[in-house]
Amino acid sequence: MMWKATELKYDPDPVLEHALDVLFILHADHEQNCSANAMRAVGSSEADPFSAAAAAIAALYGPLHGGANEQVLRMLREIGSPENIPGFIAQVKDGKKKLMGFGHRIYKNYDPRARVIRQIADEVFKVTGTNPLLDLAMELERIALEDDYFISRKLYPNVDFYTGIIYQAMGFPVEMFPVLFAIGRMPGWLAQWEEGLLDPEQKIARPRQLYTGYDERSYVPMATRSAAQDADVDAIAAQAAHAAPERPLR
Ligand code: COA
Repeated sequence: MMWKATELKYDPDPVLEHALDVLFILHADHEQNCSANAMRAVGSSEADPFSAAAAAIAALYGPLHGGANEQVLRMLREIGSPENIPGFIAQVKDGKKKLMGFGHRIYKNYDPRARVIRQIADEVFKVTGTNPLLDLAMELERIALEDDYFISRKLYPNVDFYTGIIYQAMGFPVEMFPVLFAIGRMPGWLAQWEEGLLDPEQKIARPRQLYTGYDERSYVPMATRSAAQDADVDAIAAQAAHAAPERPLR
C-alpha cells in the first residue's frame, strides 16, 4: 500500500512484514497511557469513535509520548557521530537536552518491549543493510546505561528508542512515524473506548479539582488606576500585598 500500489503481484519481504506485525502488536495497548486516557475521556461524553480517536491521536503525537520515535531520529541525526555522544550526554545532564527514547512514566527498568524491538532491528537490518544511526543508537545506549545520571534516575530505553531507526530502514518518512504508532495503537484505543461504552457504570469523565490558590484578593479599582500613576504606586502595591499574603500555588 505504501510503495507498490500499482504492482499487483508485489510481495513484501517476509522479514519486514513480520517485523511490522511485531511492532504493531507491541504497540497495540498499554493501559492508561496519555492517548488511551484521552480516548476514554472523550468517548465518555458519547462522542463518535472517530472524534475520540482524533483526540487520542493528538495526545499520541506529543514528543513525550508517541512523537518520541520521531524525536529519537532527529536527535541521532543531530549527534551525527559517536565522538559527539559525550558532549550530548553532558548537555542532557545539564538539563539543556533530553535523551529521547529514554525513560518511562511507569517502567523504572528496561522497557520489555524495547528488548524485543532491539532483536527486530537486527533482523530488519540484515535485509535492508546496516544503518550508521543504529550503531550510534547502540553506542548512545551503552554510554547512558553506564552513567550514574541515568542509573540513579532509573532511565532505560523505551519502546521508541529503536522503532524510528527501523521505520526509516523500511523506507518510511520521519513524519509517518507517529502515524505508524497510531495504526498499531488503534485496536487498543477502540477496545478501551468500547469497554467504557459497554460498562453500565460508566459516567462522563469528570475529574474533580482541588483549588489551592488565593482566597479573597484586593485589587485597585479601574477608576483609580490612572490616578495611581501620579500617586504613590508603591503604597498601593504594599496595600495589595498586605491584603493578599503569598500562598504557594501547588
Ligand atoms: N532524558 C534526560 N533526563 C530525563 C529523561 C530523559 N529522557 N527522562 C526523565 N529524566 C530525568 C528528569 O529530568 C528528572 O530528573 P531530576 O530528578 O533531576 O529532576 C528525572 O529523570 C525523573 O523524571 P520525571 O520527569 O519524573 O520522569 P517521568 O516518569 O515523569 O517522565 C517521560 C517520563 C517518558 C515523560 C520522560 O522520561 C521523558 O520525557 N522521556 C523522553 C521522551 C520519551 O522517550 N517518551 C516516550 C515514552 S514511552
